Amino acid sequence: MVDSEGIKKYIRPHLMGFSGYSASTSPDTLEGKIDVPIASVIKMNANENPYGCSPKVLKALAQCKHFNIYPDDGQQELRKLLAKYAGVPAERIVAGHGSNSLIDLIVRLFVGPDDEVVNCVPTFDIYRFSTEICGGALVNINREADFSIDIKKVKAAVSPKTRLIFLATPNNPTGNIIPRQDILEIISTGVPVVVDEAYYEFSGETMMPATAQYNNLIVLRSFSKWAGLAGLRVGYGVFPPGISEYLMAIKIPHNVSVAAEIAVKESLADVKYLHDKVEAVIKERARLYDELKKLTCLKPYPSRANFIYCQVLQGSANELYQKLQRKGILVRYFDNPLLNNGIRISVGKPEHTDALIKALHELE
Ligand SMILES: Cc1ncc(COP(=O)(O)O)c(C=O)c1O
Repeated sequence: MVDSEGIKKYIRPHLMGFSGYSASTSPDTLEGKIDVPIASVIKMNANENPYGCSPKVLKALAQCKHFNIYPDDGQQELRKLLAKYAGVPAERIVAGHGSNSLIDLIVRLFVGPDDEVVNCVPTFDIYRFSTEICGGALVNINREADFSIDIKKVKAAVSPKTRLIFLATPNNPTGNIIPRQDILEIISTGVPVVVDEAYYEFSGETMMPATAQYNNLIVLRSFSKWAGLAGLRVGYGVFPPGISEYLMAIKIPHNVSVAAEIAVKESLADVKYLHDKVEAVIKERARLYDELKKLTCLKPYPSRANFIYCQVLQGSANELYQKLQRKGILVRYFDNPLLNNGIRISVGKPEHTDALIKALHELE
């Protein structure tokens, strides 16, 4: 038997007790644990696009003959395409392996041991994850009862040690946006502010044009949700002048695969198709919300994203999540007291809403 204890003493001490990111359950892991076949599992737990990606992406990937060649490390063509879509100069863009990887890159650029990162919790857990890995200190500001942010508290949390402020809008897992005026006030602190717009296409609200005006504003976007490319991993960030060069220098080489590059190109050639699917999700979000509201066991929160957060009013959210899982319906449960006993439900197709609502009625 190899003794692993000896090598563990070399691990950076602050990572010994580190709790990683708890990712959503994959149906593959449920074989034998649920009452339905894996193939009929309904996945409403990871905010994925139920309509998949553009058919143009599938066709182009099937036809590609150069997967043996590395992608362009400088992302020249990719950045030009993204620039056109986002309406910003190409040199201010950096693309990555999902917007997660850009969050990580930004933290690595700005945050060292004991530097502070202001985080408005509950929110997307990767901000904590990357900050802690870099040895930074999180300054957590609790959101209000309706999950809005009190900007006075955020501004009061800024200290000479603050290196970044993270703002997800719409926020994951609560679905609410941050009013533009509040974001502008937070930008006025002068500290680098990361506005994470992973769900922008579903909210229609963006700070992107303001990147031309403020030299401490970073906007992040993703192709995982609106373009249905979660499995191919592409996201991008728009940075203040002079900052993207540093990120390009510290990123891992070839951080966007050839397949992902092709997928972006084809998605951006099929924006109308994808926006129609986004519209379908937005329409279904309204129906799902109305149906959830009719249940006495749940309190859904209004959402501008492709998911709805619900407080469980009777019994435990964890138990409800597990009972739905047994019936083959996956939703997301977070073991976080700030989330007040809730589950997050991704918006699916109309038939997914029907199946979920039927299951919830059966469980009531
Ligand atoms: C707020 C937020 N930001 C970023 C991401 C990461 O997206 P990806 O890495 O798939 O681009 C997610 C994914 O769930 C998210 O909810």
